[in-house]
Amino acid sequence: MRRFEGRTAIVTGAGGAIGAAIARRLGSEGAGLVLADLDDATVDATATQLCEAYAIDVVTVSGDLSDAAVAQAVADAARERFDRIDVLVNNAGGGVILPTEEQTEATLQATLDRNIWTVLRTTLATLPTMREAGYGRIVMIGADSVRNGLDRHAVYNAAKGGVHAFAAGLAREYARAGITVNTVAPCATATPELAAIVARSPEVGEAFTRVIPMGRPAALEEVASAVAFLASDEASFITGQVLGVNGGSTMN
Ligand SMILES: NC(=O)c1ccc[n+]([C@@H]2O[C@H](COP(=O)([O-])OP(=O)(O)OC[C@H]3O[C@@H](n4cnc5c(N)ncnc54)[C@H](O)[C@@H]3O)[C@@H](O)[C@H]2O)c1
Repeated sequence: MRRFEGRTAIVTGAGGAIGAAIARRLGSEGAGLVLADLDDATVDATATQLCEAYAIDVVTVSGDLSDAAVAQAVADAARERFDRIDVLVNNAGGGVILPTEEQTEATLQATLDRNIWTVLRTTLATLPTMREAGYGRIVMIGADSVRNGLDRHAVYNAAKGGVHAFAAGLAREYARAGITVNTVAPCATATPELAAIVARSPEVGEAFTRVIPMGRPAALEEVASAVAFLASDEASFITGQVLGVNGGSTMN
């Protein structure tokens, strides 16, 4: 499939595990990419791999996306290189997973900055271009834990729940503007971080997978393929939805 030929996609947090998998999937289907991350080394590594693998045009921007100027630089980079922004994947984030009473001022702030402010800033920087074009696909990476609760995830859920709610509000506001807004909500996903958690404390890792009927974490590619569908023209009549990629953890 080459669903993104001639399209431009921004993927935030593209230096991380899920973000790199999403970038790979969109790039493998022909998208020009703007990859953003706090960490310049990892995002540059993702870009180099994808340029070599798929002969696509890739731009990187590094910086803290909770800063409006950095988010604006991402949107500007897309317009300068590609003169369009078709897809925005708001993937940057990550929890500070702790029992609620062990959260500190710093971990509370980091959780909100990473998960909420990055999404607000990047979306606001991107929307004008999509609105002018009358076309856009915004996909949030939310979390299944928003719907099923999950041990130690309360503060993270407070932030990710805001992302789910922001997506719903935007979906309605832009429904007639050609812009769809959806959320992919993964359960525990097979990232190096999950492997480290399981190695440190097997009982915590076990608690994360116990709630998954399929009995295993999501593969990175399983999250990426759901994102690619919602980011494609095939999902043209789907907006304001939360797609759980969760092995049956929640059922509608
Ligand atoms: N891994 C899981 O089990 C899981 C489950 C549900 C949801 N998620 C969500 O999926 C997304 C990706 O998670 P991951 O597991 O790949 O984590 P990760 O830590 O590997 O990747 C997250 C990336 O986001 C970047 N980032 C964080 N804050 C940023 C900021 N302020 N500005 C710019 N970049 C920033 C990080 O540098 C990192 O590269 C996150 O939003 C996470 O909350 C993950």
